[in-house]
Amino acid sequence: MRTAPSLPLQFSTLPALFHLLMLHLLLVVQASPPGPVVLCQSGNTNCTLTNAYGAFPDRSTCHVTAVSYPSTEEELLRAVSDAAVKRHRVKVVTVYSHSIPKLSCPAGPDGRPGLLISTQRLNRTVSTDAYGARMTFEAGITLRSLLDAAAARGMALPHSPYWEGVTLGGLLSTGSHGSSAVGKGSAVHEYVVGMRLVVPSAVPSADGYYAKIVSLGEHHPDLLAAKVSLGVLGVISQVTLQLEPMFKRSVTNRVVSDATFEQSISSFAATTPYGDIIWYPSQAIVVYRDDFKLPVTAKGKGRNDFIGFRPQPTFFIASARAAGSCLRVNPELTCLRSAEDGLVTACGWDPRFEGLFYHQTAVSIPFANITDFVADVKKLRDANSGALCGPDLYFGFLMRFVRNSTAYLGKTEDAVDVDITYYRARDPRQARLHEEVLEEIEQMALFKYRGLPHWGKNRNVGFIGMKDKLGARLQKFLRVMRRYDGEGLFSSEWTDAVLGLRGKEVVVEGNGCALEGLCICSRDEHCAPEQGYYCGEGQVYRQARVCRKITEDSG
Ligand SMILES: Cc1cc2nc3c(=O)[nH]c(=O)nc-3n(C[C@H](O)[C@H](O)[C@H](O)COP(=O)(O)OP(=O)(O)OC[C@H]3O[C@@H](n4cnc5c(N)ncnc54)[C@H](O)[C@@H]3O)c2cc1C
Ligand SMILES: *[C@@H]1O[C@H](CO)[C@@H](O)[C@H](O)[C@H]1NC(C)=O
Ligand SMILES: *[C@@H]1O[C@H](CO)[C@@H](O)[C@H](O)[C@H]1NC(C)=O
Ligand SMILES: *[C@@H]1O[C@H](CO)[C@@H](O)[C@H](O)[C@H]1NC(C)=O
Ligand SMILES: *[C@@H]1O[C@H](CO)[C@@H](O)[C@H](O)[C@H]1NC(C)=O
Repeated sequence: MRTAPSLPLQFSTLPALFHLLMLHLLLVVQASPPGPVVLCQSGNTNCTLTNAYGAFPDRSTCHVTAVSYPSTEEELLRAVSDAAVKRHRVKVVTVYSHSIPKLSCPAGPDGRPGLLISTQRLNRTVSTDAYGARMTFEAGITLRSLLDAAAARGMALPHSPYWEGVTLGGLLSTGSHGSSAVGKGSAVHEYVVGMRLVVPSAVPSADGYYAKIVSLGEHHPDLLAAKVSLGVLGVISQVTLQLEPMFKRSVTNRVVSDATFEQSISSFAATTPYGDIIWYPSQAIVVYRDDFKLPVTAKGKGRNDFIGFRPQPTFFIASARAAGSCLRVNPELTCLRSAEDGLVTACGWDPRFEGLFYHQTAVSIPFANITDFVADVKKLRDANSGALCGPDLYFGFLMRFVRNSTAYLGKTEDAVDVDITYYRARDPRQARLHEEVLEEIEQMALFKYRGLPHWGKNRNVGFIGMKDKLGARLQKFLRVMRRYDGEGLFSSEWTDAVLGLRGKEVVVEGNGCALEGLCICSRDEHCAPEQGYYCGEGQVYRQARVCRKITEDSG
């Protein structure tokens, strides 16, 4: 029985100004808003949690004792207080829960199920400061509603992720961003100027709550922890954002050969305030998005025509999975997103649609190293014909720009975020041809070039060594965490593992673990020896350990 309320996205009512519809893939299928991510046996108790994809990287099920749906800050205080009194692990769940890793599962070290607090009903605009161009929102508001509310007051968020179904609290918690290396850059948390959190408290308040409100102003040092927190500090109740007057953007896609493009990534980023690049390595082309700001009075509908975000016809997706050969991406495909013609677009990752199941590797590589990284990937491509067709079918390597941050869990350097989306077998033991090339690229990005993973994407291996990569910043973050949530009620197995706490590991070893990115292979059993896949070294980055098919004659 589905008991959680569900909130369908209305794709047909997009705001007129430039707002991107969608990242990755949209399919044209029958009407199907995302299903609820929390399903309960009875009322709001005895539930299971999943994410928008219907699967966590380890394919485990997350059991939860109960879920609550506060609709005021007072009710939120009560919900956190209840968890604190019971000493239950607790996590925030958002309306669609778009992160791939198991971030929202409250399971504790003893495997005991915890509680969920949904922000689904905390989705209002709280206040507007028109003079200062600031607005305060409840954290459960979707990006889409936020942008609409700001637009209604003549304001816009300077940068945002490309997909509007995420919530303000959720996108901040994982450091989400758009693309810009100019000014403060593209991460939304750079525009946060105030936050209110509800955190557990060991002593009761005057009202008897074992929870309290922490209000952080623009210059409060704890804001550096709260802006990007993986949800481990407590519940973000409200967020104040610095907006700017409404503007338009001029967007042109330029398709060119990929020869030597790596030399000019930095200069493109420096001169194109909203630009991004999609690289289709197997087709040897790149698409530069020339994207500039225009005054709101400029002519034009402000419609974005970024090819990566257009819905793709179902036949394209179906053949993408079936053929295994390289289809040509047609930059002229147009967007079919009208609900009026009886077809609506649905999310390609919707678990109820048997279309797509994929891994996503999203790692930011410092500008200082991006040229070498691309050159390495080209070497791998040239040595393995056809190996990168897979990601090309899933819209290539999306390269976006993010600036270094003062947020403790933000980016440590100006960087190029490279998003690579590729086939994931529905059967976890099924190895894939050219598996080794993608594994080598993933390890190269993470370890050779010390890239930082997107907290809301990636396979488990993406989070190896975060403690070392973040260094002193992580320690500063943990000090705030211990002050806010001394008992670790908002921590889980997964957040402990990525933050390097309590001896937890992100790696899960077992037969076939490397195929799913749960481990880096060190033994053949981590691959699929029965299918001819053995653990071996990388071709370009020798230190990589990848699952490679050994045929009898190459043997
Ligand atoms: C189709 C698609 C496109 C995407 N596009 C982009 C993109 O362009 N750029 C980008 O950077 N990322 C992108 N992402 C990643 C996405 O922005 C992040 O995964 C984001 O965290 C999802 O937000 P959510 O509201 O669904 O949060 P969830 O995934 O539900 O939550 C993330 C974490 O935050 C915690 N949390 C949520 N709300 C609160 C709160 N109020 N208080 C405390 N903790 C909270 C949750 O417990 C969880 O730990 C995309 C993801 C998808 C599926
Ligand atoms: C929860 O659901 C499971 C599976 O349906 C059932 O066996 C169990 O008794 C239920 N527990 C409670 C407390 O309702
Ligand atoms: C808030 O959520 C409710 C459903 O929970 C929905 O009906 C409403 O449109 C949402 N409001 C905004 C501003 O998104
Ligand atoms: C990355 O760039 C830095 C700064 O230029 C350099 O010191 C380092 O060696 C580079 N790493 C690799 C693997 O090239
Ligand atoms: C970010 O990098 C710039 C140089 O590119 C440097 O001046 C600044 O101090 C850095 N900021 C942080 C927060 O590291």
